[in-house]
Amino acid sequence: MTPSIPLSLVGLVLLSLVSSQTVDPSLQDLTNRMADFAVQLYRAVSSQTDENVYLSTFTLSTGLSALLGVTSGPTQDQLLQGLSLSGLDPQSLPDLFQNLRTIVLQGGVATNLRQGVAILPSQEFKVSSSYLEQVQTKFGGNAQSLAYTVPQEAADTINHWAQENTGNQVQELVTNLDPQTQLLLATAASYQIRFSPSFNASFTQDERFYVDRYHIVMVPMMFRADKYFLAYDRSLKVGVLKLSMADGLAMLVVLPDEDVEVTTVEEEVTGEKIRAWMRQLKKTKLEVQLPRFLLERSYSLRDVLQTLSITRLFQDDADIINMGGAKGPKLTQVHHKSVMSVDESSDDITTGGGGSVFSTLPPRLTINRPFIFIIYQQTSSSVLFMGRVIDPTKK
Ligand SMILES: *[C@@H]1O[C@H](CO)[C@@H](O)[C@H](O)[C@H]1NC(C)=O
Repeated sequence: MTPSIPLSLVGLVLLSLVSSQTVDPSLQDLTNRMADFAVQLYRAVSSQTDENVYLSTFTLSTGLSALLGVTSGPTQDQLLQGLSLSGLDPQSLPDLFQNLRTIVLQGGVATNLRQGVAILPSQEFKVSSSYLEQVQTKFGGNAQSLAYTVPQEAADTINHWAQENTGNQVQELVTNLDPQTQLLLATAASYQIRFSPSFNASFTQDERFYVDRYHIVMVPMMFRADKYFLAYDRSLKVGVLKLSMADGLAMLVVLPDEDVEVTTVEEEVTGEKIRAWMRQLKKTKLEVQLPRFLLERSYSLRDVLQTLSITRLFQDDADIINMGGAKGPKLTQVHHKSVMSVDESSDDITTGGGGSVFSTLPPRLTINRPFIFIIYQQTSSSVLFMGRVIDPTKK
């Protein structure tokens, strides 16, 4: 006999499915795939450095997906696969991206989160007006030819564009440009985090942060006693803390147990893992201590993307089409720079709890050793940024 589920329960489940904010299944599929790509990219970048890492994976997915519109054949297939988008119709992707951007950048986000993507061929090639329109309306980006034969002027143009698109936060996206450049993808993002509720600066004090076994730094450690969403992953031995933000976004702080290296966790993390953590979050009373930090990271991602099997775009025989010339350009480089700041700043009128909101002292979670963070949009679970803080006193 199969156990029957009480009807009242079925009703409850249906009710919660209907009442929770739902996102179109094709958009949900896209955001899951983008999260898979985000994690792969993050792992590839972080495996090559011991420093802090910060990537606007959403901006990079957007820029690389915008390139699908000028690729064909095996180059396009490989790009789709590298972006975890294989099986999707490249024709329908621009509209999906437009819808997703509307959700992600809704509300007040636009004031704190700014991004830009630009597709920049050299002057021998040209950008058709239909492609320019697609990049602008569907991907929120820009496309234009640049004279790389005068590298300093081209760099100035790109840096000026990056500044304009990030409220002057991203400076010097590019420095030395190769005069032989055929095609660049430039991506930049800035995000000033506004936790909601925010941390109250009067509780912030300098405390130790254990960079590794031999290095301790002093950092301004913010403090808030409150109800938080928390999960613990027994297999990876990590705590996962959710910190909500004012604009419908949230940050997951992934803190390995004291005897676990952050790199060990990175080897195991996947898009599916992140989704599982989000499902397992439970509300609990906590005292949280989180360092203030500011990250500013820039990357040239050609080599990293090639380790993710996106290779054909960069080869002489890349199938890049509709850009004029006897033969299309090949992609020369992908530049990425993003900045973020985490502090007590607030858009709220009310600040979070202080030191004595609970009658009994709740457990304390002190983020005083290297951690990973994931910033996502809550209704779509869309992963926007991934990074890690090894030393919060460094950018
Ligand atoms: C921060 O905490 C102090 C000390 O408890 C309190 O006086 C102040 O009102 C708080 N600030 C805000 C903005 O809530």
